[in-house]
Amino acid sequence: MKIRDERGRALGAVKTPPDLVEFMVSLCHPTKSRCRVLEPGCGDCPFLLAFAQRYGFHHELVGIDIDPEAVRAAKRNMPTATIIEGDFLLWEPDGRFDIIIGNPPYGIIGDGSHYPIHSLKEKKGIYRNRFWTWQGKFNIYGAFIEQAVKLLNEGGKLVFVVPASWMVLDDFAKLRLFLAHSGHLTIYYFGRVFSDRRVSCVVMTLEKGRKGISLHDGLSPVSRRTDYAGELIRFETPEWLAFEKSGPPLECFFHIHFAARSPEVRAHPLVSTTPKSSLVPVLTGRNLKSGWIDYQNCYSGLWMPQEAAPTLRFFYAFPHIVVGHTKGTRVVAAVDDRCYPWREEFHLVAKADGLDERAIAAYLNSEVVQDYVRSLYRDLVPHLTLPMLSRIPIPQEFIPTHRLSLFAQEN
Ligand SMILES: C[S@@+](CC[C@H](N)C(=O)[O-])C[C@H]1O[C@@H](n2cnc3c(N)ncnc32)[C@H](O)[C@@H]1O
Repeated sequence: MKIRDERGRALGAVKTPPDLVEFMVSLCHPTKSRCRVLEPGCGDCPFLLAFAQRYGFHHELVGIDIDPEAVRAAKRNMPTATIIEGDFLLWEPDGRFDIIIGNPPYGIIGDGSHYPIHSLKEKKGIYRNRFWTWQGKFNIYGAFIEQAVKLLNEGGKLVFVVPASWMVLDDFAKLRLFLAHSGHLTIYYFGRVFSDRRVSCVVMTLEKGRKGISLHDGLSPVSRRTDYAGELIRFETPEWLAFEKSGPPLECFFHIHFAARSPEVRAHPLVSTTPKSSLVPVLTGRNLKSGWIDYQNCYSGLWMPQEAAPTLRFFYAFPHIVVGHTKGTRVVAAVDDRCYPWREEFHLVAKADGLDERAIAAYLNSEVVQDYVRSLYRDLVPHLTLPMLSRIPIPQEFIPTHRLSLFAQEN
């Protein structure tokens, strides 16, 4: 049992709650008297069973799973279906499908010490070459989506429950573009649907060949567009869009940099793992508070001479605004006026002189900015991202007049 659990975990196996299965099946609306229906990563095929119970067993039902044990369970559960043991991502079936429904595995493929999906790590290079949408670290669910869309008939429908991260992360920019060109997207945001997983999820459907996008909060419609072209998918309202346009975006006046990464800091010849009076702590997100910085405590376990900090990143040489990356979907900012070394967070380097950085940091911590970020991005990802930060509007009173006119000319 333990071995099976461990293998399942390494393949991203998670059971879908029955009421979610029912809801997703209710979105299928078969349009042919006999549809070809596929459940990829089928486990014991809950979706095929619920589909057949709702629409009839006369449809052609196909499941595929890479785990032989899951395949045995699926065959027991659905003796009338065709169940295939194989890798869905490398599968080349004879024909396409009218409906593809399921809950694909989630996780970054890589080494077991860092990443959840480690059984498939030898194939990562093959997947990367095979999938156009593969970008950055990516996530196995993105590859499942691309493969499923390719295997759909024109006019066919995909219904998947997946993490919400593809809606806003840069690593999924190509996936959003691919989806925008492939069909009409309908998204139902449900937040945490798996009690034992801290992941915010959406049910997405794609009707191949149509265009546009509709977003729902649960079942309530939020927005609908006929011209989707792969942009970030946010909970936009006229009020928050007006707020966003009320001032130039932060990226207009600041270069936004990431801190030096942990391996680089550790490898630095002047970094020590023991404190000395001549050294200062290398700061992390835990040192960053709303409006102030805790310079005393060392959470990184690393120390270095303060004057050597700029050899890690040039911007550790002068006072600048630091904004939290690792603090959930909220904005936490403070000015580092002591110029310490950092191992985490965003560092804002002013593009122009004369900006009141202390006032801007206080504004970034304000309730209105927290409301703006929470309303547009909910908990789609567990941290603040670069695009989220760069779009925050800066009130005009914090910007010197001559810089403001430059911004007006550019726009
Ligand atoms: C999240 S579970 C979903 C199981 C079932 N569909 C459900 O909803 O309860 C994902 C399933 O995908 C399977 N899987 C993982 N990688 C796969 C691959 N490359 N090809 C086919 N199946 C895979 C796992 O074995 C697991 O059964």
